[in-house]
Amino acid sequence: MKVAVSGKGGVGKTLIAGGLARGFVERGLKTMAIDADSSPNLALTLGLSTEEARKIIPLTENQPLVESKTSTGYSGVFNLNFTVDDIVRDYSVKTPLGVNLIVMGTIKAMGSGCMCAPNAIVRALLRHLMVERNEAVVLDLEAGVEHIGRGTARAVDVLLIIADSNLKSLEIAKHIHDMTAAAEMKHVYLVGNRVMNPSQEQAIKDFAAKNGLEILAFVPYDQKVIEADMLGETPLKNKEITSVRTIDNICDMLLKKNPT
Ligand SMILES: Nc1ncnc2c1ncn2[C@@H]1O[C@H](COP(=O)(O)OP(=O)(O)O)[C@@H](O)[C@H]1O
Ligand SMILES: [Mg+2]
Repeated sequence: MKVAVSGKGGVGKTLIAGGLARGFVERGLKTMAIDADSSPNLALTLGLSTEEARKIIPLTENQPLVESKTSTGYSGVFNLNFTVDDIVRDYSVKTPLGVNLIVMGTIKAMGSGCMCAPNAIVRALLRHLMVERNEAVVLDLEAGVEHIGRGTARAVDVLLIIADSNLKSLEIAKHIHDMTAAAEMKHVYLVGNRVMNPSQEQAIKDFAAKNGLEILAFVPYDQKVIEADMLGETPLKNKEITSVRTIDNICDMLLKKNPT
């Protein structure tokens, strides 16, 4: 099961990506979470402390790694001289919630043909994780799917687009949804997050109906999520939180759809 989580900044992608990754682990799947946000913070959501999280160097910013793994041939094209397995082994971090985490760093739009060394590594690594390895992957994306390249996008089994009732986040959800047709993604679902009341839920439903988005679930607004975040603790630790339980249920919904 390869799941990518997208949507406007601040809508709850990281909370939901973390909750799904933990949920897959609890259901017996070996799971890798990939933080592909340029301001990465999935580590905290997966239970690492701020001190531990600060020590993680995103792969694209790890200059010695990038230099040692790539060399420029006569053509100016980067050669990758590593097996991607090595990177997974050496640079993934085991988190308290049982999920292995790789912090990717900024992914430049891959369709743009940028062949810079970090991009070449990210591309190879994503391909390896999404296409070749037989384990669950949850990808916490910065925005839409244009960053991951079409080849990798095709390997994504499920794309979740997160939005709240704010029209800006819904417009971005629509934009991402429109792009998925080109990327040939089949299981694309909207998740309404931070829903405070029935009228917010209705606003999301109306927008989805009008724009052809399929809704998978609604995650309620929870003050306890904010409080945990303020303390630098992961909200996922507390399963009494309704929104955390709802996200956990999404794992079962996805497994039932059997998209792989
Ligand atoms: N269901 C929810 N209820 C309350 N607060 C939430 C909920 N989901 C996310 N948040 C809060 O919203 C903020 C942004 O969430 P985050 O997962 O970091 O979003 P993103 O990764 O999309 O930027 C965080 O402070 C988080 O605690
Ligand atoms: Mg995030």
